[in-house]
Amino acid sequence: MTHQLYWRSAFFHHTLAVLLSFRALGVLGGPISDSGAAALLAQEWSVGILMSHGGTLKSVIIYYSKYGSTKDYAEWLAQATGAELVPLAEAKKLDLSGFDAVVFGCPYYAFRLKIAGLVKSWVPRLAGKKVAFFAVGGEEPTNPDCRKVYDTAFPDSVRAAMRFFYFPGRIALGRMSWFDRLIMKLMKAKDYDHTSRDVIAPLVEFLKG
Ligand SMILES: Cc1cc2nc3c(=O)[nH]c(=O)nc-3n(C[C@H](O)[C@H](O)[C@H](O)COP(=O)(O)O)c2cc1C
Repeated sequence: MTHQLYWRSAFFHHTLAVLLSFRALGVLGGPISDSGAAALLAQEWSVGILMSHGGTLKSVIIYYSKYGSTKDYAEWLAQATGAELVPLAEAKKLDLSGFDAVVFGCPYYAFRLKIAGLVKSWVPRLAGKKVAFFAVGGEEPTNPDCRKVYDTAFPDSVRAAMRFFYFPGRIALGRMSWFDRLIMKLMKAKDYDHTSRDVIAPLVEFLKG
């Protein structure tokens, strides 16, 4: 597996920050409203929730995915545990008391985890449950840096109660928005697909109790 070194390069970090600032100001890609600017990183994200009733534990898997690789992982996990797909709109009404385990899944984008706010706000409701978090990104799973964004996103107290898993992701330039493609081109990133059904095994095992 090729190392995706550009994720940790200072050049990537700085270029991304400049491009995002320009985009939010409407300098790149035409005018953009205040709320649009605030939601810039949120737009185009597909959001979903999966409920799993298979295995020993009754589990719910909540995921965010922009280009589908995190969704693939969530669906593979759901299939392996007899999962049922539920739209995010129903997450707010979700009564977590019915679940033994809660799993969050989210890709890294620009060193951030879109789902982090939700996880933090749910901490009191997660007490007494098995909780896992799987991140999807461009790093190689054997690289300790693949934890870095996750470690930064959550305080020790939250991470102590949550098991971390990391799954390698995918990039398909042809399917990206012009903005993401521009960032990737500046990084000289090429298409790759490191997703694999095999890597979910430890998380499937975790959900068995
Ligand atoms: C604009 C952009 C920024 C990214 N930033 C990071 C990053 O900071 N760290 C990382 O490991 N991967 C990064 N990636 C790689 C994604 O995490 C990876 O492609 C993942 O599989 C995407 O998940 P999705 O298909 O569910 O949207 C980035 C990809 C894009 C297109």
